[in-house]
Amino acid sequence: APAIVRTIAELRRRVSEYRTQAGPGAKVGLVPTMGFLHEGHASLMRRSAADNGLTVLSIFVNPLQFGPNEDFERYPRDEARDLAVAAEAGAQLVFLPEVKEMYPTPPSTKMTVSGITEMLCGASRPGHFDGVGVVVTKLFNIVQPDRAYFGLKDAQQVAVVARIVSDLNQPVEIVPCPIVRESDGLALSSRNVYLKPEEREQALVLSQTLRQVPAWIREGAAPGELKSRMAAAIARMPLAEIDYVEVLTYPELQAPSDAAPLRDLKMNLLAAVAVKFGQTRLIDNVLLNPT
Ligand code: PAJ
Repeated sequence: APAIVRTIAELRRRVSEYRTQAGPGAKVGLVPTMGFLHEGHASLMRRSAADNGLTVLSIFVNPLQFGPNEDFERYPRDEARDLAVAAEAGAQLVFLPEVKEMYPTPPSTKMTVSGITEMLCGASRPGHFDGVGVVVTKLFNIVQPDRAYFGLKDAQQVAVVARIVSDLNQPVEIVPCPIVRESDGLALSSRNVYLKPEEREQALVLSQTLRQVPAWIREGAAPGELKSRMAAAIARMPLAEIDYVEVLTYPELQAPSDAAPLRDLKMNLLAAVAVKFGQTRLIDNVLLNPT
């Protein structure tokens, strides 16, 4: 079973103990999460355990990245189950700090990543990525991992974190990992537990729509055309309330010209959606390489 650590001092001590024992080839992987772990989180831990001698899992519901009307207070938590998932997936250290440990006083330091946070989830959730930037930088400074693992389920988050690391020369390698889905296609998310049965059924339209994107691009769709097709497919579900349907270059997150078919574009493309079903906001995306 992994060791549970609740203080920054103890975590630093354990990581440096590992580095001393393991010697110059020692590699530390960090998997930052907010808990209520599922197979998506487990896939990041397994990848880290395969790449590194020590895998540190952090579980911290970061108040800084939640908006005033978001679900910070009711975010699902299950420490006992999380520890079982962590053990099974190969994490050796689990960092479970209280809010007071991470933020003894509200931080005065702000982190704003401009150019790639004005769109997608950054537009719908003002300040969200500022909060992600602060907590991820704190975790990098506390753990000093060689590698950190992030899921492409949150493709914009991967772009933002990679940009911070590059801009500030943070000495960590960001490893993007593929989206893990239920057998019927729904992307795994800790928030899926909020879905009522009817909402859960209709939420399948997200992955179903994203699966059609490559064919629509092959048929010659320009960005506007592709987005209307995606939005129309999603809107067929009566419970779906679209937040955004976007098609952007990746990781620059810039809008491609609407004058040309996307199949002619020589850049990676991100087709991303955020849709509310009842009270639950779901995101999903597909990343496409140029053909
Ligand atoms: P959380 O939503 O718990 O996600 C933790 C990590 O798991 C993220 O990198 C996320 O992209 C990844 N993940 C979630 N669902 C996934 C899926 N279905 N397939 C693959 N990976 C998946 O993202 C956060 O927490 C926070 O913003 C955090 C980075 C921890 C900062 O607070």
